[in-house]
Order: sequence, then structure tokens, then C-alpha cells
Amino acid sequence: LKILAVAAEAFPLAKTGGLADAVSGLCRSVQQAGAEVTLLLPAYRGAARHVDNLHEVARLENLPGGAAVLLAGDSPELGTSVLLIQNDDLYDRDDLYVDGNGMEYVDNAVRFAMLGQVGARIAQGIAQVPRPDIVHVHDWHAALVPLYMRQWGVNSVKVMLTLHNVAFQGIFPLDVANSLGIESRFCTESGAEFWSQLSFLKAGIQYADLISVVSRNYAREILSPQFGCGLEQVLAARSDRLVAIPNGIDAELWNPRDDIYLAGRAFDIDRMGDKEACKRELQRNFQLVPDCNATIVAVGSRMTTQKMADVAAQALPAALDAHPDLQVCILGHGDKAIEADLRELGRRYPGRCGVKIGFDEQQAHMLHAGADILLHGSRFEPFGLTPLYAMRYGTIPIGSKVGGMVDTIVDPGRESGITAMRLATGILFEGEAPADMEMAIARAMALRRHPQVWRAMQHNAMAANFSWSRSTPLYARAYQSLRPDIPMETK
Ligand code: ADP
Ligand code: GLC
Repeated sequence: LKILAVAAEAFPLAKTGGLADAVSGLCRSVQQAGAEVTLLLPAYRGAARHVDNLHEVARLENLPGGAAVLLAGDSPELGTSVLLIQNDDLYDRDDLYVDGNGMEYVDNAVRFAMLGQVGARIAQGIAQVPRPDIVHVHDWHAALVPLYMRQWGVNSVKVMLTLHNVAFQGIFPLDVANSLGIESRFCTESGAEFWSQLSFLKAGIQYADLISVVSRNYAREILSPQFGCGLEQVLAARSDRLVAIPNGIDAELWNPRDDIYLAGRAFDIDRMGDKEACKRELQRNFQLVPDCNATIVAVGSRMTTQKMADVAAQALPAALDAHPDLQVCILGHGDKAIEADLRELGRRYPGRCGVKIGFDEQQAHMLHAGADILLHGSRFEPFGLTPLYAMRYGTIPIGSKVGGMVDTIVDPGRESGITAMRLATGILFEGEAPADMEMAIARAMALRRHPQVWRAMQHNAMAANFSWSRSTPLYARAYQSLRPDIPMETK
């Protein structure tokens, strides 16, 4: 079975968040399961570094945004083929989506319409490029592929859309549709029109053959006004084509036993000694007092309101005041005002709160390995990879009771009895107020005073299996439902 995956991110070629990890993990695991996967991505600055044998296969004219060169190669990390769309005016920039001031690039509609059109043209057939049996598109950036395929009558190739986050929809003025090559018959309420605007994501939902959502709980939530972001009725109307397939995690990359980023400080369930060494290293890196009895709470994510980073900035001072043995490490970037508040927090608690504003893959691994607790509040969370990464390293997550975290984190409940200890892996809390978060931190600190309970929770967290081996068969089943005529294993 030939799959063309189309996305705006894939680790390690281009990453701003979990989309990159989910796309690359899925591509790798589906390829290992016997399908032939090709990943289509814009040739952002630096992406080609991760691709071997890169060569030109086609020149494409008359795309939204002009012409582009299609480059083909192989990704050693993914074990799949890769196609890169080269148009340096559109893609050779410092960041994937935003300028130096954190503002969306003004030509994002064109940049991702080009991605969509190239995906659809490959489905239609381009000389020198294998024609896929299924195109699998991810999030709004790739969601015009199904629309262009319908417009051009490409019906023999099936198209699947995975929703990683319905809060990001790719909404632009409706009058740009024409310049993106979208015919007006697709710009109606039953098509890509959304409150008199053009919505890339709505187009994908309307025209995909199958839609998947990255966790079971989020699949239910997005049918409600609270989480559907205005698309709840559009999604409900397509509920017969909607399936939930939870993400997996890359259990080799995020593995305390041989994590290349930990520089020899490996540990595992039965040999936790070097977690202490990781903790010391974290304290050094974040300029904290080197106290081995301190409890380190880590915050590592995009600094946005989705991640309740604004709430964390308000809750953490009270927590630091209430628990003298608490230390805090913060790694992330995003909203400038939230970044400023967090920097201020670092200044207010020198030696107890370290803040690094930026994006750093190695620091993210160190953070999960060295901390005791990961604080991961979310107003909504389609899946939530970060808490699962933390769990791999025996770092107990505190997560909001929303989205995928409801399916993946087990809270001990009110008692810390035997059953709870046998199952619990973290803390879940409700609410969006600083006091709700503070209370969750207090609960974690109280559990930590019972070493047996804490050790049991660490054990459960580290032993939990969220690897792709659980999700890949579900994707295989979805693909086979779209193409029962072609077996998954091509070789
Ligand atoms: P989301 O996709 O909503 O951002 P996830 O928790 O699913 O949330 O995935 C986030 C991914 O991005 C993880 O791989 C996490 O380690 C990474 N990440 C987020 N912020 C940073 C940062 N500042 N530096 C390094 N990695 C980061
Ligand atoms: C999105 C979501 C996150 C999810 C990730 C991968 O970025 O915000 O919850 O884990 O996609 O699917």
C-alpha cells in the first residue's frame, strides 16, 4: 500500500510541537508495518540536512505562490522516502509559521495552499513520482489536499485527514480563494466557507474520505461547542466518517535507558540512581540551588493559553511560597506577554526558579529526565505527548482533566490505597484558575511525602506502554477500510 503523508512538520526535519513527533512516528511505524510511505513537506530552511540522496524529480508550474521544484530523497531517521517542495521565497525562513515578532506570516494561505496543491497533483499523477493509493493529510496546513482532489476529479486515490488540533483552522479572507485556485463552487457553506471566510480545516473535514482524531476523549469533546471551535456541527455531520486513533510515542527516542541527549546518565525502572545525576545537571543548567532533597517541578511546552502557561505564571509563586523545598524549571517559548511574566518569575525566585525561553530538543529531554514532576495544564489537549514522555523518565505528570490526558494519565483518586498505587501514574485536575493548579501541585507534593506511593507511581508511569505498536494496527485498519483492494504489505 502506497501512502503519501502530507504535513507541515515532521521530526527531525521541521518541528514546533507534537505534530512533528506524531507525523514522523506514524510514518516510521506504518512503513515498518509493510506499507510504502512517502512524506511530503515544504523545503524549509535546514530540512534538507536530514534527507539523503536528495535530487530533483519535477518542476511544477502555476501553483498558488508560483512555481516550485520537487526534490526526492530518503530520511534515515524515518526510514521512509521524502519529497520536499522547494520555493525559497515561501519556505526559506527563520521559522515555520511566524516572523521575529511572533506574528503569523502574511502569506501563510499561499504557503500552505502550495503544499495542498502539490499533494493533490501527486495524487493526480506526476511523471517520476510514484502515485499513492492513499493520501494522508495532517491538520489545517495540508487540509486543502482533499478539496483540490475533488475539484480535479481525483477519486480513485483515497484521502484521510487527521485532526491534531481543531483550534488551528487556517482561516483567511474568502476572496483569496480564487488566487489559491479554489473554484467558487467549493466556497459555499457545504464546502470551505466558514462564517464568510475561507477555512482550510473545514475544507479538509468536508472532502476527506475518512477523518481521524488523535485521542478518544478529544474525539468526543470536539462535538461540543466548548471544544469544537465552531466546527462541532460540521464534524457531527460527518460523524459516520470520524474515527478516534490515539497517537503513539517513540519509545526509543524517549527512553531513559539510552537517551543520546542524557550524555551517559542512563537509568531505568530498577536502577534509578542516575535520575539523581540528571537532576543535578538540571539544577546546574537552570541555575538552581544544588539541593538533592528539593522537588523539581518542570514546565516544558509552547507558552500559550492552550497550555495554561498564563495560569502557571500566576500559580507558581504561591506554590513556591507554600513549599520551601520546591524548585521550578521552565522551558518554552510562545506568547511574548507570557514569556515576560515567566522571566519575571525567574528574577523573583533566584536559585529556586530557572527559566529558559527558547526551543531546545536536548533541554526538553534533560527536563523530563531530571525533574520529579511535570506541570502540564491545558485548556484543551487533543492528545498530549509531553506528559507521556515525562512518564517514561519516572517524572510524574500533573495534567488537566481534558482531551487525551483523560485517556492516558491515571489519577490515584482521593485515597492512596493499594489499588490506586497499583494503577496511578499522575495527577489530573479540573479548572483553569491559578488556585486549581496550585491545589494540584499541593496534592503532588503531599504524595511525594510518601516514598512508597511515589515509587509505585513512578513504576507504573515508567512501565506504561504508549508506543506506536498499539496505534499502528488501528491506522492499518483505517487504511484498509479505504483501500480493501490493496494489501498493506507491498513488499
Ligand atoms: P503540542 O503539540 O500541543 O505542543 P505535545 O505535548 O503533544 O503538545 O507535544 C509537544 C512537543 O514539543 C514535545 O515533543 C515537546 O518536547 C516539544 N516542545 C515543546 N516546547 C519545546 C521547547 N521549548 N523546546 C523543546 N521541545 C519543545
Ligand atoms: C497537537 C496537540 C497535541 C497533540 C499533538 C500531536 O499539537 O496540541 O495535544 O499531542 O498535536 O498529535
